[in-house]
Amino acid sequence: MRELILGDGERYPAVWLRDNCPCGDCALPGSGQKLFGITDIPLPDEVRIERFDQTPDGCVEVVFAPDGHKSRFDAAWLAEHRPGRSPPYSDRAEDAKILWQAADFADGLPSATRDAFAQDPATRADCLESLLVKGFFLLHGVAVEDRAVLSVAQAFGFVRRTNYGELFEVRVEENPANLAFSSLPITPHTDNPYRDPVPTIQLLHCLTNAAEGGDSGLVDGFHAAATLRREQPDAFDLITRTPVAFRYLDAEAELTATDSLIGLDALGRITQIRFNNRSMRPVALPPDEIVPFYAAYRAFAELLYRDEARLDFRLEPGDCVVFDNTRTLHARTGFTASGRRHLQGCYADLDSAASALAVLRRTYPGDL
Ligand code: OGA
Ligand code: ZN
Ligand code: ZN
Repeated sequence: MRELILGDGERYPAVWLRDNCPCGDCALPGSGQKLFGITDIPLPDEVRIERFDQTPDGCVEVVFAPDGHKSRFDAAWLAEHRPGRSPPYSDRAEDAKILWQAADFADGLPSATRDAFAQDPATRADCLESLLVKGFFLLHGVAVEDRAVLSVAQAFGFVRRTNYGELFEVRVEENPANLAFSSLPITPHTDNPYRDPVPTIQLLHCLTNAAEGGDSGLVDGFHAAATLRREQPDAFDLITRTPVAFRYLDAEAELTATDSLIGLDALGRITQIRFNNRSMRPVALPPDEIVPFYAAYRAFAELLYRDEARLDFRLEPGDCVVFDNTRTLHARTGFTASGRRHLQGCYADLDSAASALAVLRRTYPGDL
C-alpha cells in the first residue's frame, strides 16, 4: 500500500509515516529529535506499507516495505497531524492573529500589573497570548527604576543586545541625531528595519512623563496590510514584491537590511511589516516603476495613519508597553520640550515569548 487509510478515510502516505516513525532507532525519546535524514530511508515513491494493525490501546502498528521497518503510531497523534487537516500553523502569520482597530479596545487594553505578571501564571499566559495574537500588552506598576525594563523582558525571554546596548534611552537631548531624542512627534513605525533579523519584540518603559503631549499610539500593521490587499490588490502586490533597503549610520555602526514593507510567507500570508520613513533608503526601481511604487507606499501609509487605526494611550511612570515589532507600529505625539519625559526601551524576540507561553500551558494544563 502506498498509504494508510483509517476510519473515516483519513490518508497517511507511506513515506510521511516512515519519516515520522517515533521508535527509539528513529527519534530521541523526550525531544523527539530525528536520528536519520531523508536520504537514509527508501525513495519517496518506493516506501510502502506491508501491513498494519490497529491495537486495542489506540495505536496503529505499521510494517514498511521494502526495509521491513516497524513503527507504532499513537492514534491521537495521527489525528492531530493528519496531512491536509489544516494549513500549516505559524504563530507569525496573519491567520494566527486577531486583527484590530482602535475601537476594538473600547473596553480597555490587554494589561496587567507587574506583580500579577510575575506571580500569576494565568496572568502571564494572558499577556503573552495578547502579545502573540493582538500584537501587544501593557504592564502597570513596573518599578520606576533605571534598567527595570530589562527585568520585564527577562521574565519571558532574552534581551536582544544591539549596538545601542542592552537598552536605549528615549529622552530629549541637545542636537539630537535621532527623532527619538527630540520632542517632535513620531509617526507610526516599526523599529530597526535596518537590522536582519529585525528585533521582533520591543518594550518601552516609562520613567517620567511630565510633558504636555508625549502620548503613545499603536497601529495594527497586519490590519492595514489586509485592508490594502482587499481595497487595492495591485498596490498590495507591488509592495510585497518590492525590496526596500533601510540603513542606520553613526560613528560606530553601519547597518543595512533589505526587504519588502509587507512580508509574506510561502503561502502568501502576511507575516511581517517593516515601515520606517526615517531609515528608508532610495528605492532602487526602474524609472517607470517609481510612481506606481510611491502610490502604493502612500496608500499603505494612509491606512496606517488613519485615526481609526491608531490606538492612543498615555504611558505613565511605571507603565511598560510590550509589542510585536514585526506587526504593531508605534508612535508618539510631540510634547513640550520643557516638560520632562524619559522612557527606556529594549528589544527581545517572539520565539522565546511563544516558548514561554507553550511551557506555561504545558505546566498548567487545563488552567490557562
Ligand atoms: C522611537 C520611538 C517612542 C516614544 O524613538 O523610535 O518610537 O514614545 N519613541 O517616544
Ligand atoms: Zn523507527
Ligand atoms: Zn520607535
